[in-house]
Amino acid sequence: MQNNTFKVGIVGAGWIAEKAAITLNGLPGFQCYAIASRSQEKADSFASCWGVKKSYGSYSALLEDPDVDLLYVATPHSHHFDITREALEKGIPCLVEKAFMANRNQAQAIVDLSRRRKVFLAEAIWTRYQPAVEMVRRIIREGRIGQVRLITATLGYSMGNKERIFRADLCGGALLDLGVYALNFVRMFCDRPFLSMDSQCVKTDTGMDLSNAISIVLEGGILANLQSSAACVGDNIGVIAGTEGNIIIDNINNPQTIRVNGPDRVFQEELKVPKQITGYEYQFVACRDAMAQGLLEPPQMPLEETLYIMELMDGLRARWGVHYPMDDINYTV
Ligand SMILES: NC(=O)c1ccc[n+]([C@@H]2O[C@H](COP(=O)([O-])OP(=O)(O)OC[C@H]3O[C@@H](n4cnc5c(N)ncnc54)[C@H](OP(=O)(O)O)[C@@H]3O)[C@@H](O)[C@H]2O)c1
Repeated sequence: MQNNTFKVGIVGAGWIAEKAAITLNGLPGFQCYAIASRSQEKADSFASCWGVKKSYGSYSALLEDPDVDLLYVATPHSHHFDITREALEKGIPCLVEKAFMANRNQAQAIVDLSRRRKVFLAEAIWTRYQPAVEMVRRIIREGRIGQVRLITATLGYSMGNKERIFRADLCGGALLDLGVYALNFVRMFCDRPFLSMDSQCVKTDTGMDLSNAISIVLEGGILANLQSSAACVGDNIGVIAGTEGNIIIDNINNPQTIRVNGPDRVFQEELKVPKQITGYEYQFVACRDAMAQGLLEPPQMPLEETLYIMELMDGLRARWGVHYPMDDINYTV
């Protein structure tokens, strides 16, 4: 890190890369330093649009830049593995978009590599790093809703026409794109083990899950019902219901309001999250702070948790017959 500026290099000049550039441009102490695309022209255009200092016409070229403090992998899930492996082998810290990898096997290989090489690695599941997490946990901890008994969450966007949703070779489906937030929603607010899981899905013509419903029994008499869909505009609300009240979180993909109701659903309080740039800033700050402390992963999203979520998603896909080409390969690094 030079002059106290934390330099981020982005791989893949797509939709989320733009959001990252906007975020970093508004975040003191950070610089959207470099962009890499498969096309030099696209990289140059991204760089001039967002004021990015360096632009590279291949992903590997960016890895040769010695000034990158953190590589942000913003390609489709299918393309996270190769570039993350290459970066970790060169000792470059990585923040990898969700879904972290195609499957648990890929994820384990990458986590093993980061541990072996002692290089920082994190999953960019932005909700894990946001202040709403601690706000909701505190309400639960203080006993304001009594004992948690039911957790429900829906996440839906009408995006079934996107290639990365309907193509198996891009690791398509609603689960890896959207359901991952619903699974994380449960794990963030309830640390009880999962005892059993049931599910259904509706598929695209290409065999990917377009909409899915997942029902989980957790230890302690807790039930979670989750839905995600790439076929419709969901309410995107999460509810944590307890014996004495409930918490309604709007929305589970970047919470803005947290409403607390008491017994008989009587309104108690509505909390708002602090003003955001985009909501993506917290993941970058978490990485910088963890690295400054010499950590190899962020405490907000431990790698073991990333691996567990990948394993859950593997199990769900296996039940639904949603298959990726990567599932046929044994990854070791
Ligand atoms: N955290 C969030 O809120 C959020 C929101 C949306 C997406 N995401 C995640 O971010 C990642 C990228 O999603 P996105 O919406 O940004 O996708 P996108 O707009 O399609 O951009 C992905 C970029 O990846 C690169 N790429 C490399 N190989 C590719 C291939 N075979 N096909 C298509 N693109 C390829 C392309 O960049 P070049 O052409 O420049 O190489 C492309 O622009 C995914 O993992 C997704 O789950 C996260």
